[in-house]
Amino acid sequence: MLKRAFQAAYRAFLAASKEAFAVFRDGLLVDTFPRFATPGLHSLRLPPFAHWPRIQAGVQRALVRWICPNFERVLSRLQRGDYASAMARFHLFEFHDSPRCPRLWRDSLTAFLRTTIDVLGIYDVIVPRLAALMARSGTDQIVDLCSGGGGPWARLSGALEDLVDGPVRVSLTDKQPNLEAFGRAHTASEGRIGFVESSVDATNVPAHLVGVRTLFTSFHHFRPDTAREILNDAVRNRVPIGVFEFTDRTFLSCLAMLFSPVIALVVVPFLAPFSWRRLFSCLPVPLLPLVIAWDGFVSNLRTYTVAELDALIPEVEGADYHWESGKISQGPIIPPVTYLMGWPIEVDRSAPTGDA
Ligand SMILES: C[S@@+](CC[C@H](N)C(=O)[O-])C[C@H]1O[C@@H](n2cnc3c(N)ncnc32)[C@H](O)[C@@H]1O
Repeated sequence: MLKRAFQAAYRAFLAASKEAFAVFRDGLLVDTFPRFATPGLHSLRLPPFAHWPRIQAGVQRALVRWICPNFERVLSRLQRGDYASAMARFHLFEFHDSPRCPRLWRDSLTAFLRTTIDVLGIYDVIVPRLAALMARSGTDQIVDLCSGGGGPWARLSGALEDLVDGPVRVSLTDKQPNLEAFGRAHTASEGRIGFVESSVDATNVPAHLVGVRTLFTSFHHFRPDTAREILNDAVRNRVPIGVFEFTDRTFLSCLAMLFSPVIALVVVPFLAPFSWRRLFSCLPVPLLPLVIAWDGFVSNLRTYTVAELDALIPEVEGADYHWESGKISQGPIIPPVTYLMGWPIEVDRSAPTGDA
């Protein structure tokens, strides 16, 4: 029943897209060459521009392939009715991955992420697991990689301290550190949250940064080879590592993401600290909310499933590591958290598992 409804919706979507593409193509042609704006555009012979539609189709194809290298593969899977494998991992373009992404966009996106995580308490559920990971390796230090705007630490550090009944020292790091956001986290936490001012690459973390390495909402940024390199670097340095993601590669999560432009439009202009530039990036043209929504949608499509996380492990160097992975559901409102944790066997202090 659900499958038939989905197939019908998909057929309607294909028909509408075909029509929309035709309108777009003709519209572009007419806009570019107004003198051809006559009915029956397709049947016109257009010397000396006869090759224009073909060139245009080529440009469109190149653009689609650049945005989504797997586009044709997905389309053919959908046409075959192979919906499960159509949800394969796609490493599409994200704006804030690009070195040319304006600072305002990147910082706004990570501030939006931090606010969402904070308000919904998305990562509260992993506090016992993190505490167990720290106990296993006998450390009170966390080295957070890819910290962006601070991630969940404003909320998690206190909860973690309550649980371990002692101080927890967190160091925020990033390849492109947002020192303003790090500074605010440091002040708000009364110094419990520190940060590294220089660039820290998650694939090559300086050895003097010791402690449990964490990555929140960022592992999906890395293709499998680089993701494995991040795990390898932790293994090489014999430190524990925890990867946590609330993005989720399911049809429902992608559907839910369609609301994100509206949520971003309501929230982003008012993120602290207030910025006129940010406000004018949202109004009257909601460019920034659309950029954030796109990156959010793509993050879902890039997220590794538990099985895919597990599949990274056999190729990680060094067998003397424990690995634990899973997905924790949190009901219909709060997204689930997918995680992978690893720690060296010789520092295993047999702490109880974090299962609440
Ligand atoms: C989606 S943000 C995640 C932010 C944060 N962890 C959170 O939960 O809000 C991804 C971050 O990863 C950082 N990043 C990307 N590649 C990196 C790398 N190779 N090493 C360290 N950080 C990286 C980006 O600069 C960005 O701040």
